[in-house]
Amino acid sequence: MSPMRLLTAVPRVPGHLAVIMDGNGRWATQRGRPRWMGHVRGAHTVREVVAHCARVGVGQLTLYAFSSDNWKRPREEVGFLFDLFASHIDRQLASLVANGIRFSMIGRRDRLPRPLVDAIEVAERRTAAGRRMHLRVAIDYSSRESMQGALALDGARQAARLDATILPPVDLVIRTGGERRLSDFLLWESAYAELAFLDVNFPDLSTADLDAAFADFASRERRFGAVPIKEIA
Ligand code: IPE
Ligand code: IPE
Ligand code: MG
Repeated sequence: MSPMRLLTAVPRVPGHLAVIMDGNGRWATQRGRPRWMGHVRGAHTVREVVAHCARVGVGQLTLYAFSSDNWKRPREEVGFLFDLFASHIDRQLASLVANGIRFSMIGRRDRLPRPLVDAIEVAERRTAAGRRMHLRVAIDYSSRESMQGALALDGARQAARLDATILPPVDLVIRTGGERRLSDFLLWESAYAELAFLDVNFPDLSTADLDAAFADFASRERRFGAVPIKEIA
């Protein structure tokens, strides 16, 4: 087999994958269970998604865990989610370090409970040297608010804040749960992202679903405004 053929045989995975993890509540409700059970199952799925993405060579994985609009939910659900995030970060920390996965959080920290912020900061410190994949989790995140906050500053402060706020461009956005919207997630960074809306609820998302989304992604021609390659003489 020629080296070229070997190269093309490797499936192309997105360099930066963003996942809107939606449908936890419906997963539970459809089974006659309380919503929190959907979140618990969703957290297990997160572990599988992270492991699979690292395995297949995704460079950056950004997960939408809690939007700034999710504060509108009942206080019990919000509190449950924050406790779940903190315990999962704690429990996954050793595995993140062992697998070379750098963890960081995007979004506002000032409204989060102290134990969650502590868990995040410990994980960020201890995984800082990870080079295999950069995992970002968006908590109390609003793409519009983060951009507006940066743009309200002036001069060098604005440039520095924009630099810290804007992530590398997203290649593929996957949203589970069947809705076809972005819900204020990575609006700027998704300027040329491919979009995949999956009807599966997040707790049921499998590695096969991910592979199918990656195969579909690999089949798309990303033109970035240019003329299709085959039409260039
Ligand atoms: C996503 O699932 C998790 C969060 C937004 C925290 P949802 O909780 O939105 O589930 P549905 O959309 O109500 O089914
Ligand atoms: C988006 O899901 C936020 C997360 C997945 C964390 P929502 O369930 O909050 O979005 P809407 O309300 O359906 O747009
Ligand atoms: Mg939802």
